[in-house]
This record gives sequence, C-alpha cells and structure tokens, in this order.
Amino acid sequence: MNRRKTVIGNWKMNFTHKETASFLEKFKTNDLDKNADVIFCVPFTDISAAVNALSDTNIKVGAQNLYFEEKGAYTGEVSAKMLSECGVEYVIIGHSERRSLFNETDEIINKKVKKALEYNLKPILCCGETLSQRERGIEYDFIRTQIKSALYGISKEDAKNIVIAYEPIWAIGTGNTATNEQAEEMCLTIRNCVKELYVEEFGEKIIILYGGSVNTKTASELFKMENIDGGLVGSASLKDDFSVIVNA
Ligand code: PGA
Repeated sequence: MNRRKTVIGNWKMNFTHKETASFLEKFKTNDLDKNADVIFCVPFTDISAAVNALSDTNIKVGAQNLYFEEKGAYTGEVSAKMLSECGVEYVIIGHSERRSLFNETDEIINKKVKKALEYNLKPILCCGETLSQRERGIEYDFIRTQIKSALYGISKEDAKNIVIAYEPIWAIGTGNTATNEQAEEMCLTIRNCVKELYVEEFGEKIIILYGGSVNTKTASELFKMENIDGGLVGSASLKDDFSVIVNA
C-alpha cells in the first residue's frame, strides 16, 4: 500500500513568534522531498508567523491543542473555529504531556477529535503506553483501548482525516527511540484496530506515525517499516537539520 510519508514537527513550548519566522524562512529554502507531507505544530502565539512564513510553500501549520466547546466562558482556552480561521490545518490531540500534565482523559480527547473534525481540522491523534505498562505486557491492550475511545462515535468519512501517532511515553524526550520492530509492531496493531472499527480498506489507508526521540540517525530505518508512515518529531524538529528527517 502506497501511503504518503508524513513528517510532523511538534515544537511544544519552544520558539517565540520572531524565532518562528526566522527558523521557517531558513527551513523553507531546503530541498524537501515532494513525496512527503510536512507539518509544523507550533504554539498558539506562533501560528500567524508560521502561516505567513509558509504561505508560499506546501508545508502546513498545525496547533498543539484546542478546546472542545464551541465558544464561551473558558478562560485561557482556544476553539477549533479560532484555529481554523487562522489558517491552521492540523491539530495534535491527546499528546501524552497533555494527558499526564493537564489531566486529559480519553473522553476529553474523543470530544476534542470530534470538534476538530467539525471544523475541518485534521486531528493528529496521539497514543502511547508507559514503561511499566510495557513491562507488564499490557501495552497492546492499552493502546487498543486508547484508540477505540478516541474514535468512539466517529464515522469512517470523518476518520479519513485523522492521522494517528504512536508515541511510547518511555521514548519521548529520553533519547531512547523504540526499536524499529517495537514501533512497527505497535503501528500494525493500531492499523488492525482501525480495520476492526471501520473496514479493512480504510485501515490500509490511514496514516500512522511513530514518535519518541526520532532523530537524523533513527528516522530512515523507522520510516522504512511497512506500517510506519513517518514521524512525529519533538526536539529534533527545532534544529536546522530537521530537513534530513523529512527527506529520510
Ligand atoms: P521527542 O518528542 O521527539 O523530543 O522525543 C516527540 C513528541 O513528544 O511528540
């Protein structure tokens, strides 16, 4: 199955809007593989700088979160409609840092995915197990539950716009990239889970990424695996040689 390669930078809470403009003005002069979709998920305050800097390229801009309500008295929150009007096309939902530091539950994540889809934002749905879950051998069941909960009540038509990122928590920001086999096996499990929820054909088409300490050395072997369609990249997406990962 020929799925498009997708490489997403997750900047987390890094780069001011000025730094965003100068980083991206330089980044876009790289010779990038035309067969890969490239997306930068930036902090809210950097969105306009990123959209401006990338307007003459095929590189897309994403956000890192949204709130599931339409509008109203939710101090500090940002809605799907606000993001969509700013030129955002993707949004990360359910990152493990949101789940653990900001108490986001599977139910909240499901509501956020639905709200994003309502505004034609493409959710980058994250899942991933802890080290202790892996050691206890419950990682596959755990990930299947995360996926089923996040996709609950979402039609096949809508689900077509979702990208899934498998990010084992023990691999994020630790320098311990999962092995190619560990990443491949879980991405295959996720693909099979999507097939069970929808239809076989759709499971073959959905984009599934690996994330967790992806770097210029590990990217190309990971991206060659049958069920890994690219990566969600944190710290390495803040460096000038992120283009090496895109071209991997
Ligand atoms: P990392 O982060 O590449 O720095 O490990 C990945 C992520 O959290 O999306």
